Amino acid sequence: MPMVLFAAPALWDDYTEALPRALAEAGVAATIVTQAPDPAAVDYIVYAPSAPLQDFAPFTRAKAVLSLWAGVERIVGNASLTQPLCRMVDPWLTEGMVEWVVGHALRHHLGMDRHIVNPGHVWDQTCPPLARDRPVAMLGLGTLGLACARALQALHFPVTGWSRSPKDVPGLTCLQGEAGLEQALRGAQIVVTLLPRTPQTENLLNARTLALLPQGAAILNPGRGALIDDAALLAALDRGHIGHATLDTFRVEPLPPDHPFWAHPRVIVTPHIAADTRPASAARVIAENIRRGEAGEPFLHLVDRARGY
Ligand SMILES: NC(=O)c1ccc[n+]([C@@H]2O[C@H](COP(=O)([O-])OP(=O)(O)OC[C@H]3O[C@@H](n4cnc5c(N)ncnc54)[C@H](OP(=O)(O)O)[C@@H]3O)[C@@H](O)[C@H]2O)c1
Repeated sequence: MPMVLFAAPALWDDYTEALPRALAEAGVAATIVTQAPDPAAVDYIVYAPSAPLQDFAPFTRAKAVLSLWAGVERIVGNASLTQPLCRMVDPWLTEGMVEWVVGHALRHHLGMDRHIVNPGHVWDQTCPPLARDRPVAMLGLGTLGLACARALQALHFPVTGWSRSPKDVPGLTCLQGEAGLEQALRGAQIVVTLLPRTPQTENLLNARTLALLPQGAAILNPGRGALIDDAALLAALDRGHIGHATLDTFRVEPLPPDHPFWAHPRVIVTPHIAADTRPASAARVIAENIRRGEAGEPFLHLVDRARGY
């Protein structure tokens, strides 16, 4: 019977029932432990970046490390990790991200703030354009970017996507490379960043690339804080070139109390809540990968270490 080490003690309460149930549904008989008496006896490690476990070398028999997080930048460079690493692709996390992106995109698109915060009771009948006249750039067309792009398309937003490798998605303009990024940004009134943090994506939105956006564009960053050069964004907001930024992820989390993003009138901070891993659905993803490992089938959602995501 395989031994599963649940190595994220702070999350165990959420998975106490969900993980055994999901394993049973997957037809897998396994022993789940929260502390391994002998690391060499562990077959699978369920992991989160907050876990105290950082040295994977003693887990000589482990067939896979199964992350509960979608983003893997805090583990992908761990030199002691030689086992296959699977990231979390949780359908309910994806649903959450779609809701957050669509909700905040609509807020900017409809100019909701003018009516929610209207202390002067101004009767301003300026009507927003239709979504079909509000182009969106989706930076990242992976699990989350693509789901959000489709949801925005369903509301008739014209979406241009940008990714590392070429994509062919019906109804979506898909671009790559430096020239593709420039084209996507030049035409976008709303930019959504759903890229992983890698050396290639760090500071992707900087003084030069932010300047490509049309005056007044809005930025939604549920991806990773390091995708944006904070100082360049603040300068662009202060000039009014960027109209608004809704930021869910930051270089330092929690965002320090004295960080200028908190008080900036054109910034909304959401505290990394755009899309949480949901234990009931995530446990099924973990269980399916353990089933695959036991059946000798390829794991789902394997991370490419060289690519960094
Ligand atoms: N705020 C939250 O609550 C929250 C929750 C979950 C995840 N996230 C963040 O969202 C990110 C995306 O998640 P996901 O599941 O959609 O990841 P994913 O499926 O791995 O997709 C990543 C996308 O980024 C593209 N990409 C990567 N490097 C690139 C580069 N150098 N240039 C252009 N495109 C590049 C990929 O291109 P290819 O398609 O060509 O590979 C892919 O389209 C995660 O890494 C994490 O940082 C945030």
